[in-house]
Amino acid sequence: MNTNRREFLKASSLAGLGLISSTVFAGNKEEKLDNKANTSLVQNAGKRLLGSGKHQLQVSAIGLGCMGMSYHRSFVPDRKVSINLIREAYEIGINFFDTAEAYGPYLNEDLVGEALAPIRKNVVLASKFGFVDGTPSKGLDSRPETIRKAVDESLKRLKTDYLDLVYQHRVDPNVPMEEVAGTVKELIQAGKVLNFGLSEASVDNIRKAHAIQPVTALQSEYSLFTRDPEKTVIPVCEELGIGFVPYSPLSRGLITGYINERTKYNAQNDNRPALPRYQRDAILANWPLIELLKDFGDQRGLTVAQVALAWLSAQKPFIVPIPGTTKLAHLRENFDSSLYEFDPKELNELTSNLDKIKIVGERAVGQQAQQIKN
Ligand SMILES: NC(=O)c1ccc[n+]([C@@H]2O[C@H](COP(=O)([O-])OP(=O)(O)OC[C@H]3O[C@@H](n4cnc5c(N)ncnc54)[C@H](OP(=O)(O)O)[C@@H]3O)[C@@H](O)[C@H]2O)c1
Repeated sequence: MNTNRREFLKASSLAGLGLISSTVFAGNKEEKLDNKANTSLVQNAGKRLLGSGKHQLQVSAIGLGCMGMSYHRSFVPDRKVSINLIREAYEIGINFFDTAEAYGPYLNEDLVGEALAPIRKNVVLASKFGFVDGTPSKGLDSRPETIRKAVDESLKRLKTDYLDLVYQHRVDPNVPMEEVAGTVKELIQAGKVLNFGLSEASVDNIRKAHAIQPVTALQSEYSLFTRDPEKTVIPVCEELGIGFVPYSPLSRGLITGYINERTKYNAQNDNRPALPRYQRDAILANWPLIELLKDFGDQRGLTVAQVALAWLSAQKPFIVPIPGTTKLAHLRENFDSSLYEFDPKELNELTSNLDKIKIVGERAVGQQAQQIKN
């Protein structure tokens, strides 16, 4: 019953609004959806691979970032709403869920664990370690004993006996990367973790880690406001066969048009008020980028968020964005972005127009900026 509903939702989505490429769905869409051969097309539609060899994961082309349901996005919706959203994400075809001990801390893992419990074996669950007491403001801690303890505690909160993917949340300059990778390798041998990931690691540290334990995915900030990874870590991921997972792919809601210079945040539970790009002048200075995406989308039946996400996915086949949301409408909108295929000419044109816009405002300051430099 559930499988049928998932296939129906995916098929409806694929057939909707002409978003899917004609090479996949040519001819009479409704007829094609009825035949059996097409079912496998539907099942494989929108899937991507992260990593290579024995440490490869097949995931939906768009994942779900769960952080904002508990942490750093001003409000916290009713728990039942978030549990329903996570389960609905699975129903529409998302199988890749992202959390971390730091989100709360701990609260988000507890929520995600409850939401995914009935479907645990069918999903790819990723979490992260790497801070003192799971708290970024207390500093970095990737000592082997801390990693082992953090993973054991994550497993309990997530109500599971394995993590599909565990990321080091930030590189700890006091612990050699080889030691971190070696510790995760032992956790993989023990069956507690299946795959290893890094977040905001430098090219050097990616290479060091990969030499000890193949890295499945690098998760770093990448959006139309933060394009540095194109010149630094993405080429290394391509060379080594590592997947790339852009976090904050909508720049924490900015690249949607949904928030603007009048938006108010709850500073007790939001990192945006402290970041330069969310200040009034920077928002206004960067607004031409939103307008460009809007103009592009208006002609094609796409929203600003959909163009932004589709553009990221179009850069490399091993890129899997994980937008966060607390709303079913946004969830479906974001997921549908994976069905849009650019014509190469329009993609080039859009990219060259985007390249002309200079983004104002640093992406991080203070301790946060310090922690992404390793
Ligand atoms: N590795 C790391 O260090 C790191 C750091 C930050 C985040 N992450 C991960 O990345 C995930 C996503 O990052 P993020 O939450 O920072 O940024 P994001 O995905 O770029 O943006 C999320 C924000 O955008 C809004 N939004 C989402 N879809 C929308 C749509 N279609 N239209 C309008 N607004 C929309 C959401 O509000 P609504 O709830 O109202 O939709 C939310 O406030 C997190 O959940 C987390 O798992 C990782």
